[in-house]
Amino acid sequence: MIQWFRKSVALSAQLTCTGVLVLAALQVTPAVAGMPIKGSGLPFSEDLAHLGDQIFDDKNLSVGRNQACNTCHSSAWGFTGPAPTTNPKVRGGVYEGSIPGRFGDRKPPSSAYSTLPPVFMWMQKAGGMFVGGNFFDGRATGEKLGNPAADQAQGPFLNPVEQGLRDSACVVYRVSKACYTDLNGQGCGQYRAMWGSAIDAIVFPQGIDALCEAEGPRLDIDPVNRGMIEQQYDNIAISIAVYEESHNLFSSKFDAARLGLAKLTAQEQRGFALFQGKGKCANCHTSSGQRPAFTDHTYDNVGVPKNPDNPIYDIKPDFVDEGLGGFLASRSEWAGFAEAEKGKMRVPTLRNVDLRPNPIDKKLFMHNSVFQSLEEVVRFYNTRDVLPRCEPAAQRTDWGVVCWPAPEVEANVNMTELGSLGLTPTEEADLVAFMKTLSDGYFERIPRAKGKK
Ligand code: HEC
Ligand code: HEC
Repeated sequence: MIQWFRKSVALSAQLTCTGVLVLAALQVTPAVAGMPIKGSGLPFSEDLAHLGDQIFDDKNLSVGRNQACNTCHSSAWGFTGPAPTTNPKVRGGVYEGSIPGRFGDRKPPSSAYSTLPPVFMWMQKAGGMFVGGNFFDGRATGEKLGNPAADQAQGPFLNPVEQGLRDSACVVYRVSKACYTDLNGQGCGQYRAMWGSAIDAIVFPQGIDALCEAEGPRLDIDPVNRGMIEQQYDNIAISIAVYEESHNLFSSKFDAARLGLAKLTAQEQRGFALFQGKGKCANCHTSSGQRPAFTDHTYDNVGVPKNPDNPIYDIKPDFVDEGLGGFLASRSEWAGFAEAEKGKMRVPTLRNVDLRPNPIDKKLFMHNSVFQSLEEVVRFYNTRDVLPRCEPAAQRTDWGVVCWPAPEVEANVNMTELGSLGLTPTEEADLVAFMKTLSDGYFERIPRAKGKK
């Protein structure tokens, strides 16, 4: 049982831009080593992952008590959004929030492997570039809790187009009332077993039950109780990040082949060679090293077109997703880089990119879910600059056959590593076959947290 934690390379100490080794606040190390997570005195453990799992799945932690993290990050779908084309609460690959009719503008990327990127930073390498963080635009930097995924976990509860609670006090209050069991499914004390009983010392505002049922401004709370609430809110985020970390399984056929436990088919091997060679995929989706993340955690504009089905156009017809550039513009120290980084998105992991409950289920790809199959993605990389631009009257069925639409952001498109790869149809298919070897669960690396299918 303990084996999976020993094997799981936890969040490691991260190199800062200056090359100094810093201990991340969320310094998760194997349970056997018993290293504490900063501020908690607790070791990384299956117990803590189990707590994080229950918080991740808790629908009560949304304004309408109808949405949890796993509503948009489902294990059966590689921790991305479930059933993106058949679920009535999804439009154009974008998921409805707790409040009906509210939509964001991006698709959910995988929440597994999200603990791997370093804290967001400017790196003096190859002329300089931004690296790390969570979200397509990097705005969950990791500056607060020492790991981007932990910072990220504080966002959705309070996002009006996601779980929609008005105040972190509502999250902490509802966690304080929740029944989170131990690993044997017993009792309700897992939160306090992990984090102590300081949560019970908080004096919440009168009538908080009703206040948290409705939207509204942040609650009026005195500084002492506010400080205590924020401490618990950090604990909640760290619990979730530890749970996410426990799903960096590295248990795909690709990993099995690395370990000599399986052999890739001839087609998959050809695909891997193309991935690292002619296809140039590994330039950004790193595939070398012991446990490659299939991303280098950097940012690029690959020229992805708008998704005409994105519900954001109902309310903002001129919406343009500026990605990293949009985030940088909001930070005074980086705003000077915003123009040069406009349109860039964080390179997503390709681990679990094909994972779905059934081969006939449809998955959608890219930050805006514009592409509807892996075949279409590869065709795009291969022929973006070969086919002409689509006329306004072009249909989706024309894409990749007679034309490609213009990029969502014309600026900063990467013209050197993709666009005209000269791949034959067989080579395109080989690349797709290779990506299908990246789905976890090919071999049993670790047991899922209790209660998870
Ligand atoms: C309504 C759907 C929805 C819900 C609910 C939701 N997410 Fe997400 N999640 C998204 C979307 C969309 C993004 C991408 C947003 C962006 O890049 O701006 C995202 C991004 C992420 C990422 C970043 C991954 C990466 O590699 O950058 C993580 C991690 C994550 N979510 C975890 C969570 C957790 C934890 C919760 C619950 C506290 C949660 N999500 C709730 C839709 C959702
Ligand atoms: C220059 C860097 C770069 C190269 C080279 C590259 N990619 Fe990507 N890839 C990205 C970025 C950035 C995204 C996200 C783009 C977006 O959402 O707008 C992405 C997204 C993807 C996605 C969608 C993943 C998802 O979950 O939605 C797939 C699949 C993919 N790439 C496969 C490939 C393959 C196959 C190749 C080689 C033929 C390749 N990539 C080459 C940077 C790159």
